[in-house]
Amino acid sequence: MKIIMLGAPGAGKGTQAEMICEKYNIPHVSTGDIFRANIKNGTKLGMEAKQYMDKGLLVPDELTVKILLDRVAQDDCKDGYVLDGFPRTIPQAEVLDKALTELNDKVDFAINVDVPDENIINRMSGRRACVSCGATYHVEYAAPKKEGICDKCGAELILRNDDKPETVKNRLSVYHDQTQPLIEYYSKKGILKEVDGTKAMNEVFNSIVDILSK
Ligand code: AP5
Ligand code: MG
Repeated sequence: MKIIMLGAPGAGKGTQAEMICEKYNIPHVSTGDIFRANIKNGTKLGMEAKQYMDKGLLVPDELTVKILLDRVAQDDCKDGYVLDGFPRTIPQAEVLDKALTELNDKVDFAINVDVPDENIINRMSGRRACVSCGATYHVEYAAPKKEGICDKCGAELILRNDDKPETVKNRLSVYHDQTQPLIEYYSKKGILKEVDGTKAMNEVFNSIVDILSK
């Protein structure tokens, strides 16, 4: 099963992707997580990506597409995966389609987690991310057992650099401009599914499981 998570920054793509991957035992492929791991390790790719990410801009397609195609070509992705944060532009979607078509394969579902802009800023300012494993929490809606410490690996939780309100506004505007057109793109392909992302995390997840089991 190959699934794409669509939605604005902070809509809950990562949260839901994590839950889907656990239930269906497939890998969670997040381009944002891959870039953040590269930044942490001080790689050339990380240094380059950081310049864009800190401003709330998209990393150029040339850099993004290659790391994504390399990742999904790995062995653990052969029975499917959840793409979280990719594609983010029409050209990225076209490259993915072309690569899958060459393998006689296709995306099964594009799930749009719909959350209006008004809810996003509040969510982002409450989000905390693990510096080590990338797990995400929310101070109010998904608090860790011990404040400031990751439940999964014990490392420190921080407010992401790009979660400051000014940067979030930029990310939202980039989203509307460059990523939202993908909703129509996948709708035309007949694989778009919509879920109401303003509901509680478990309710959103139940709607997704309903969609995937049909
Ligand atoms: P990325 O890491 O993908 O960030 P994003 O899309 O902006 O999305 P987020 O991770 O911020 O939000 P999310 O939807 O995953 O929400 P989450 O589940 O954490 O990308 C970062 C940057 O990398 C981009 O800006 C760009 O520069 C670059 N990049 C990445 N991919 C790229 C690509 N393909 N092309 C070019 N550039 C790329 O939830 C948010 C918060 O809300 C959490 O605290 C969570 O606990 C809480 N929450 C979740 N669901 C609920 C709920 N139902 N109710 C209440 N709270 C909830
Ligand atoms: Mg995310």
